[in-house]
Amino acid sequence: MTAALDVRKVRGDFPILGTLVRGKPLVYLDNAATTQKPTRVLDAIRRAYETLNANIHRGVHFLSERATKAYEEARLKACRFLGAADPREIVFVRGTTEAVNLVARSFVRPRLGPGDEILITHLEHHSNIVPWQMLRDETGAALRVAPIDDRGELILEEVEKLLSPRTKIFSVAHVSNALGTVNPVKRLVGMARRRGVPVLVDGAQAVAHAPVDVRDLGCDFYAFSGHKAYGPTGIGVLWGKAEHLEAMPPWQGGGDMILSVTFEKTVYNRIPFKFEAGTPHIEGVIGLGEALDYLREEVGLDAVAAHERDLMGYATERLGGVKGLRIIGTAREKAGAISFVLEGVHPHDVGTILDQEGIAIRTGHHCAQPVMERFGVPATARASLGLYNTREEIDALVAGLRRVSEVFHP
Ligand SMILES: Cc1ncc(COP(=O)(O)O)c(C=O)c1O
Repeated sequence: MTAALDVRKVRGDFPILGTLVRGKPLVYLDNAATTQKPTRVLDAIRRAYETLNANIHRGVHFLSERATKAYEEARLKACRFLGAADPREIVFVRGTTEAVNLVARSFVRPRLGPGDEILITHLEHHSNIVPWQMLRDETGAALRVAPIDDRGELILEEVEKLLSPRTKIFSVAHVSNALGTVNPVKRLVGMARRRGVPVLVDGAQAVAHAPVDVRDLGCDFYAFSGHKAYGPTGIGVLWGKAEHLEAMPPWQGGGDMILSVTFEKTVYNRIPFKFEAGTPHIEGVIGLGEALDYLREEVGLDAVAAHERDLMGYATERLGGVKGLRIIGTAREKAGAISFVLEGVHPHDVGTILDQEGIAIRTGHHCAQPVMERFGVPATARASLGLYNTREEIDALVAGLRRVSEVFHP
């Protein structure tokens, strides 16, 4: 039995939550875009600059050794966070976008030819669509898209039909950023594995909401961004099975990814360094390690999941009571995000009026234009939850939406 999340205490960990927006308390409901950072993470970054600022891996001096140790400790933290077997399987990247591009270039591209197929789904973020289109255009392979139903759930029989011996990768979101749908990733991986198809999971919207164990999921690659998990921007993780990473060519050349260089020949470094060319985002990695420990050890992801499940249920019920409001995406299992439209009001106007009340939500296509097209809307308003949100904030959102309705339908 995990301890329940103490939301009052948790809120105290995030100094920005004390912000007043035009005299009103900030209600931050844009966590799917980026999350706020706890003091622990901010302190770790500051401490890194104050106590160990130096370049890593190459130096022999005191500070460099300290920096290297902190950087590699963060890799162990990321390894534990994902339930991975081996820290060599953790590659630090800029974020989910870079991770998907790395897998596309280095794992999939060399295996892909005309007649081969790439499988994604209709609810992907653009960062899990465009890199595959680029590969398709280069190689003559086909891009297949698994459909979703009217709730925003993947149609599993269709996924089954689309997986074939020609499929060279199945790349799928764990949780949809536009709809909040939680995909049955373990089941999907099972379906793919039975046909020998490797699976990349985009975990950008998953890791901050519930525990993730890559070995339990059984996937081949798993990607996430630090900034959506209470860590810094510009840093993320690609986890990949060691056997794949070993076999993959590096995708960027430069310092640190080599063992030796002559003009005739370069010998590449071991994994994961082979994929971390150049000076990395050292303080970002350290800050990310701190954020992952905060989530896993201090707050506990089971407690986060329970707290957010309660909030999601409450928000869904309360929003359902707002006249003219339609929730887009009614999957049976949802996490993080609730998208909606308000009859007769453009989502941008919803967002602008809510901002007057100090309420931050996101409006637009959420980098998931095919999802908008599937539901026949140009855009939605999206409230997305984090571990520090409260029922009172959902009440404020609902009151704000009633005000929007009054402005447009007096
Ligand atoms: C599901 C999903 N995948 C990928 C991304 C891209 O993440 P980043 O911009 O941090 O690389 C996002 C960002 O919103 C996302 O929600």
